[in-house]
Amino acid sequence: MCGIVGYVGGQQGLNIAVEALRRMEYRGYDSSGVAVVDGAGSINIVKRAGKLANLEDKIAEVGAESLAGSTAIGHTRWATHGRPTDQNAHPHLSFDGKAAIVHNGIIENFAPLREQLIKDGVELKSETDSEVAAHLLAQAYNEGETAGDFRASALKVLGGLEGAFTLLFTHADHPGTVIAARRSTPLIVGIGEGEMFLGSDVAAFIEHTKQAVELGQDSVVIITADDFEILNFDGTPGEGKEFTIDWDLAAAEKGGYDSFMMKEIHEQPDAVRDTLVGHFIDGRIVLDEANISEAELKAVNKVFVVACGSAYHSGLLAKYAIEHWVRIPVEIEVASEFRYRDPVLDANTLVVAVSQSGETADTLEAVRHAKTQGAKVLAVCNTNGSQIPRESDAVLYTHAGPEIGVASTKAFLAQVAANYIVGLALAQAKGTKYPDEIREIWTALEEIPAKIAEVLSCEEQVTEIARTLGAIKTMLFLGRGVGFPVALEGALKLKELAYIHAEGFAAGELKHGPIALIEDDLPVVVVVPSPRGVKVLHSKIVSNIQEIRARGAKTIVIAEEGDDAVEPFANWLIRIPKSSTIMQPLLATVPLQYLSAEIARQCGNDDIDKPRNLAKSVTVE
Ligand code: G6P
Repeated sequence: MCGIVGYVGGQQGLNIAVEALRRMEYRGYDSSGVAVVDGAGSINIVKRAGKLANLEDKIAEVGAESLAGSTAIGHTRWATHGRPTDQNAHPHLSFDGKAAIVHNGIIENFAPLREQLIKDGVELKSETDSEVAAHLLAQAYNEGETAGDFRASALKVLGGLEGAFTLLFTHADHPGTVIAARRSTPLIVGIGEGEMFLGSDVAAFIEHTKQAVELGQDSVVIITADDFEILNFDGTPGEGKEFTIDWDLAAAEKGGYDSFMMKEIHEQPDAVRDTLVGHFIDGRIVLDEANISEAELKAVNKVFVVACGSAYHSGLLAKYAIEHWVRIPVEIEVASEFRYRDPVLDANTLVVAVSQSGETADTLEAVRHAKTQGAKVLAVCNTNGSQIPRESDAVLYTHAGPEIGVASTKAFLAQVAANYIVGLALAQAKGTKYPDEIREIWTALEEIPAKIAEVLSCEEQVTEIARTLGAIKTMLFLGRGVGFPVALEGALKLKELAYIHAEGFAAGELKHGPIALIEDDLPVVVVVPSPRGVKVLHSKIVSNIQEIRARGAKTIVIAEEGDDAVEPFANWLIRIPKSSTIMQPLLATVPLQYLSAEIARQCGNDDIDKPRNLAKSVTVE
């Protein structure tokens, strides 16, 4: 997701930018860098792979005086295209050394732009999608109608870009000006006295000013020390919304939330949206970051998903989707069990290794075992350049951005979306779905981020339910079909955060034992499948709810809007928007995240970001 900062004013731009990057480091720390325009016609850049501390060492080495100037842009990277190296770090400089840019997001059409630049004789120095913007700016500035006109050149570049991006442009001939643009990724302007700031969020400049401007979609902003001007991409006057920031610094880093986990829950629409970007082009599913051919996908006759924790639950959902769409068997295995069980694999087996961190030892060992057995390995991973993708044959990155809360939320939903992309790619390659059917499923997927945003509004209701429940000792979660993995994920969240006993069951299995656990007032969450889906599943779960209610349980029912049949049996009813069967988990999981967070607080665990005994990345077997 990357953090970007910009500054024009009377102070040393370097100091302001480095300080702002420190506040943005939570957005990514694969590399960082700054560019300073010096007022004498040059731009000086310093950048380094790794954490900000590495950049500071480098600045100390070259001497801050070599980076003097009061116009600066900076970047802290969460790698997407290209490994986390010095060369791939931002800012990127143009071929003539005059234009420098920083970028957050994905330039979807970077490949043809890159090709054209190479034809024009431009030597590209990085593997990123971003670098093209620097060269294009220099080309526009150096020749043609826009020659010598910084603003017109920037607008020309923006007009040719596709995808999601926040871009900051500087030019050596224009000290005292930064031109910035945003499409689908964040950018906020900070208004100081005799100085202007840019940031991915307000934490970048909150220590300098509390006056800020929010920019609309597809906006360009030109900042100078005393002024800012907002334009649309076509150069016509644009609009922004001025506001006063009422957070302190600590709150600003968490986006105003009391924990990173709550912030990450709220980032889920973006996490899913960003994961989908660039994977459906001209009516075809594209695994552009995955190095695996259509022919190899076509030959796959069996899929294994290996993963741990929440990632494992995302894999369970992959099984439902892939078996339904592709009609090949899918096995899902806890990674720590996989290699000790002697699984049957061959060259036509696709092993999908799902991992947020890309470092989980159990999953990594499963990948190694799969490779020794001759299977193809596709990693679904949130961390560019980590070990699991490095050792896999192909990678599909989730774009959830850094997840700091130990209990997975946004990374989980992004994994589900990415697993579905893998399923669709297989269906396309094997011809088990017609192109129009794939488009229909893709459209349903694309509607999900907005629906997740709707579900986020259940926070108050769910918090109230958790408060009414108070400090409980145990809780059960039931689901059928794709609701079963949701139930497992809900139970896992509660164990992780509230340290209380919780179990998820397939609702039909209840009568074979777990129903003995039901006693008066035991809270039971039931995830109800859509009545528009497999009819029998819906009616069966309604019976299951009645069975547990008859034995004294208190039911918290998650059901889609308009499903009235469940109403009489729900002590509490949480509504989610209508969606197709396979998509429902992307919505039904969200209330369970809120529920576990609030029950944790009710049980006295206030630090939900760091539950006891757990680690974000488990690098031991
Ligand atoms: C740890 C974390 C879980 C996570 C699991 C798998 O146990 O606490 O939240 O789901 O690891 O992590 P991975 O990085 O491989 O997705």
